[in-house]
Amino acid sequence: MTTALITGATAGIGAAFARRLAAQGHNLVLVARDIARLREQATELHDRHGIEAEVLSADLSADEGIEAVEKRLADRRHPVELLVNNAGFGNKGRFLEVSMADELTMLKVHCEAVLRLTSAAAVGMRERGRGAVINVASVAAFLPRGTYGASKAWVVQFTQGTAKDMAGSGVRLMALCPGFVRTEFHERAGMGTDNIPGWMWLDADKVVAAALTDLARGRSVSIPDPRYKALMGLAKVTPRTLLSGVSSRAGRSYGPR
Ligand SMILES: NC(=O)c1ccc[n+]([C@@H]2O[C@H](COP(=O)([O-])OP(=O)(O)OC[C@H]3O[C@@H](n4cnc5c(N)ncnc54)[C@H](OP(=O)(O)O)[C@@H]3O)[C@@H](O)[C@H]2O)c1
Repeated sequence: MTTALITGATAGIGAAFARRLAAQGHNLVLVARDIARLREQATELHDRHGIEAEVLSADLSADEGIEAVEKRLADRRHPVELLVNNAGFGNKGRFLEVSMADELTMLKVHCEAVLRLTSAAAVGMRERGRGAVINVASVAAFLPRGTYGASKAWVVQFTQGTAKDMAGSGVRLMALCPGFVRTEFHERAGMGTDNIPGWMWLDADKVVAAALTDLARGRSVSIPDPRYKALMGLAKVTPRTLLSGVSSRAGRSYGPR
């Protein structure tokens, strides 16, 4: 049995990774801040699939939280073969409406934590000659979209570059770039979703199934769903000014939290 560590495992895409990997027989290390929710999830997955599920409560916006997960990833007696850097969030508001503290917290969770956890996992994976890292980015990585899009663009660039550097080592890295997925993300960020058409919404379980298929195929970037593949193809040939006009509006109407 192999072990997968998933950050942001309590909800949305992370919880979908936990369900699918448990069903495939992987042991799990579930990471997030809400310890009660983590324990409940671990018990349910253990009872349903007979796998071992550890819980690790860590706030990835704090050094101590990142260090706790780095320590678990570096434990050679209990190796982690698959790391899913998934924890993330949106901030409510456009540039200058979001406090500098919240902007920096986003960079810490989306970029610094991803860099440090990928590095902590990759050392042991390279020694063992096998392992994989999925870094959850977004299609926002390909669009002009404030700090969120910029942080996810970093995730894609970092992952693609690192995948190249690790080629031949047995360690695979892939950036996962979903479009709009029905999770707790938008509600937590206080984002209104009324202006997002129904056809643009993806299901978290289907996103995860497509991601794991793409990882097995050796892709370094995964854009689940043909609708978003087509949209991102179109985005490549659309003038940036037009693109920024559209992307700065979609999914960015902010209701009360
Ligand atoms: N939903 C979308 O439309 C969408 C689209 C593209 C990409 N994404 C990306 O997908 C990833 C997962 O998002 P989601 O949609 O599944 O959101 P979600 O349902 O809100 O889940 C977010 C998860 O991240 C954890 N988390 C948040 N801040 C954390 C922190 N400081 N430390 C540790 N864990 C933290 C949360 O758990 P706790 O609160 O218990 O800590 C939760 O488990 C994110 O990186 C997001 O940017 C989402």
